[in-house]
Amino acid sequence: MSPARAAGHDGHDHDRSGEREQQREREHAQEHRPGREPDGPAGEGTDGDVLVRVRGLKVHFPIKRGIVLDRTVGHVYAVDGIDMDIPRGRTYGLVGESGCGKSTFGRALLRLEELTEGSVVFDGVDVASLKGEELRRRRQDMQMIFQDPLGSLDPRQTIESLLLEGMSAHGLTKGQDTRTRLRELMAAVGLPTAALRKYPHEFSGGQRQRIGIARALSVNPKLIVADEPVSALDVSVQAQVVNLLEDLQDELGLTYLVVAHDLAVVRHISDVIGVMYLGSLVEEADADSLYEAPLHPYTRALMSAVPVPDPEVEDVREQILLSGDLPSPAAPPSGCRFHTRCPWRQETRCDDERPELRVVDVTGRSVAGDADPTRRGGPGASSHRVACHWVEEIAAGTITPRRRAASDAEPETIGRTGDNPPGRSADSGA
Ligand SMILES: Nc1ncnc2c1ncn2[C@@H]1O[C@H](COP(=O)(O)OP(=O)(O)OP(=O)(O)O)[C@@H](O)[C@H]1O
Ligand code: SF4
Ligand SMILES: [Mg+2]
Repeated sequence: MSPARAAGHDGHDHDRSGEREQQREREHAQEHRPGREPDGPAGEGTDGDVLVRVRGLKVHFPIKRGIVLDRTVGHVYAVDGIDMDIPRGRTYGLVGESGCGKSTFGRALLRLEELTEGSVVFDGVDVASLKGEELRRRRQDMQMIFQDPLGSLDPRQTIESLLLEGMSAHGLTKGQDTRTRLRELMAAVGLPTAALRKYPHEFSGGQRQRIGIARALSVNPKLIVADEPVSALDVSVQAQVVNLLEDLQDELGLTYLVVAHDLAVVRHISDVIGVMYLGSLVEEADADSLYEAPLHPYTRALMSAVPVPDPEVEDVREQILLSGDLPSPAAPPSGCRFHTRCPWRQETRCDDERPELRVVDVTGRSVAGDADPTRRGGPGASSHRVACHWVEEIAAGTITPRRRAASDAEPETIGRTGDNPPGRSADSGA
């Protein structure tokens, strides 16, 4: 997670320097947690720094018509070619507008969606090759927490029974002191032991999220996919849950994929951030670099929509306003998928040729060498990966954004924050 930490209810920030050095120790500790068998041969020979390696991942949902013939008349290209490495013991934040495929991507990692194409290698094991019992056993390592935990908690079961259900499914109630383990889990998520006897509806939103986290932790996972984990919570409670996730990561060496539409949440919690647009990654960088120097036009637009606390800076801040709505993932635009809304669009390359995600340094220059994310210096290196044909020219200012005349029906594409036409936002979701 980033050095910046959400202020907790106690109001203090915690210095997280030195965390990287402790990482190795935590990884070692994680491998020796109770209830975890040592990795077998399948886990051997893997790159120790990468827990999840995704290559060319596509998840397309067929659109069916007709009652008798059930014809496939098209596809929703929810995830359409993603390469990603999630570093072990770190947090990967995935942001993008509603419908861009974030949840589908997270679910595909856990094989809760079938992969149309591509591969997900989890701790050295190809997830697509797992079947039946083997898949069920591996799921112990990969857990999910949701935006609304109430929807995933059976209202008729006590918290104790909910926790035991998951643990016994993975044989974790045999041969260990289950009651002690339950008490430990409650303590780990900051709830009293008495909470075990209660039902989900007896808790507040923040407490329910803590229960959701306890349930995920109960099976000793390596990866937690947190899908909008704090979106439904009040801001003060959000900070507490974010801090809890960070503390648990420190203690247990967990790896997180945090999916969120809120850039502020992702910044606080993430080491690496990926920005998604219509099923693809358009930019990826370590969190600080991404915020300091967003390079892709879409990332620039998202960042420019985030208000700055200093009123003087805020008044002169340039805001990039995107024209048009997010296109349908069932009919994505040709070429660069962002070309229908991009102020920097260049005919005709942007319309015809899909840009690859490639390594670019923060000044916008292309970096010679391999675009493979695993060989680019790892997280913390100042390289971005950006999917834009013209990123260098945009960074250098040799290609300037299109401005609309005041008489045009559409508002200006770029303006000062004080000039925004009413009801217009650069960010229609993220
Ligand atoms: N099972 C499904 N069948 C058909 N289409 C689906 C299915 N699941 C998701 N989709 C579609 O895939 C696209 C991506 O959906 P997804 O839920 O992954 O987006 P998201 O980025 O998580 O959005 P949000 O921020 O609103 O949660 C959407 O157009 C959605 O309607
Ligand atoms: S490739 Fe073209 S349309 Fe796409 S982001 Fe870059 S400039 Fe914009
Ligand atoms: Mg979602």
